[in-house]
Amino acid sequence: MANGQIDEAKLQAFLGRVVGDFGAALSMPLAYIGLKLGLYGALAEIGPATPAELAAHTGTVERYVREWLINQAASGYVEYDPATARYSMSPEQALALTDEASPAYVGGGFYVVKAMSRAVERIEEAFRSGGGLLWGEHDPDLFLGTERFFRPGYAAHLVAEWIPALNGIEAKLQKGGIVADIGCGHGASTILIAKAYPNSQFYGFDNHAPSIERARAAAEEAGLSDRVTFETANASEFPGEWYDLVAFFDCLHDMGDPVGAARRACASLATDGSAMIVEPMAGNAVEENINPVGRTYSGASTLCCTANSLALGGPGLGAVATDSALRETVLGGGFSSFDRVAETPFNRIFEARR
Ligand SMILES: C[S@@+](CC[C@H](N)C(=O)[O-])C[C@H]1O[C@@H](n2cnc3c(N)ncnc32)[C@H](O)[C@@H]1O
Repeated sequence: MANGQIDEAKLQAFLGRVVGDFGAALSMPLAYIGLKLGLYGALAEIGPATPAELAAHTGTVERYVREWLINQAASGYVEYDPATARYSMSPEQALALTDEASPAYVGGGFYVVKAMSRAVERIEEAFRSGGGLLWGEHDPDLFLGTERFFRPGYAAHLVAEWIPALNGIEAKLQKGGIVADIGCGHGASTILIAKAYPNSQFYGFDNHAPSIERARAAAEEAGLSDRVTFETANASEFPGEWYDLVAFFDCLHDMGDPVGAARRACASLATDGSAMIVEPMAGNAVEENINPVGRTYSGASTLCCTANSLALGGPGLGAVATDSALRETVLGGGFSSFDRVAETPFNRIFEARR
């Protein structure tokens, strides 16, 4: 025995944990299928329902739905009543899995997990070679999933808490300011802020052209195309000057040249403008990340964020970058201050000033 005596109880507890993780991992693609086929929404609407009723209502095959429901009940994602042999959804399950407008909505996460899982072979190779995997090379569900995963948190906190936490920015945007959203993806954050500040102008930049196309369509759908412009641009070269606010939502740590991005942000700001850097919640010591949030973010970081930066020869800050690594990056771009001004269980919000 390499490491001494085996404690049988500890071994059984560990094996139990791993079996739970096998079940959780296999339930992830099933939850993705449930979302795509509208199974959760239908069950919330017509439940309590038998597998046959749910299948008939959704135009799916009963044999698959029957198996899916057992997995979902064992996952705690739906309820099962043995007395009636019917499945249903509690109000909490329905809110989190079907209501995209709710801050509790988690649906986007299943798209992210599905897409990141498909990167496993490329990342295994990168462990050997030291290479990486670009954001744009992932399964496209990553882009959609990221938008859907982050939007509920932005909707709950961005306008209500994060912008008011910045130095004088809320008043500027109310009066009429100019905002750049760097690495904007599908533009969820840009559109949320634009709706809140009708006197201001907004520019979203991302170097992933398909995301910019989607963001433009979203601005059009929201009737905001006159005040919200999306352009394909690299963070270290985006156009414009005299921005009152330059924002980075969950992207600085992904970048190949985050110092260059900070430098460009600093140069583009009005004299008393601010940069807002929103980053995943992480600790300043490894042991502070040994929890479910740290598990999720370090996993996503290995499969996606760190890999994107390393693919570009970057520093690989990653999703669990410490405050001090982020500070060094941002100050390295010419900012003179960098402070944590707000936080949630899932995000750190920093403000940088020239
Ligand atoms: C995790 S996604 C976040 C997207 C969006 N900000 C959000 O919160 O939903 C990271 C984004 O950063 C973009 N990105 C990464 N490096 C970039 C760079 N150097 N210049 C511009 N965008 C970049 C990616 O294309 C991607 O859309």
